Amino acid sequence: MEGKMKSSVYDCVIIPLNKIHNRAGNITIVEGNKHVPFDVKRIYYLYDVPGGEDRGGHAHKELKQLIVAASGSFDVLLDDGINKKIVRLNRPDYGLLMVPGIWRELLEFSSGAICLVLASDIYTESDYIRTYNHFKELS
Ligand code: TYD
Repeated sequence: MEGKMKSSVYDCVIIPLNKIHNRAGNITIVEGNKHVPFDVKRIYYLYDVPGGEDRGGHAHKELKQLIVAASGSFDVLLDDGINKKIVRLNRPDYGLLMVPGIWRELLEFSSGAICLVLASDIYTESDYIRTYNHFKELS
């Protein structure tokens, strides 16, 4: 998508997920178009992130995502070109909805953190905006 992106960091809301608890532990279920407002076409997860390393550093033109700290914790820095906010994710039963057109960086990973991402589409490099300068031109 070329042209102006109108997304706001305030559209990136925390979605409380379900949690079924019993003495043998917890389970959280995420179904596309039910618990998240998109069809889930891809799942990936980041893990073994060395201390002090940052991930992300890009925006997407069309992709929607739900980011979950399946284990441990990390910060998500959001930037829509005007406003910035930092969301700390540290519970497996909460997700952060990422709308398209938001620059994001993943920071401050705890030891053993797992960043689970549910995405609305398969991997397409042409959907990435890889430089902040390009992002600023579009936002
Ligand atoms: P990238 O999205 O740049 O990582 P991050 O933003 O989390 O730091 O992806 C890292 C590498 O993995 C890059 O070579 C592209 C590849 N990749 C895929 O092949 N498929 C995927 O679904 C994803 C997310 C990444």
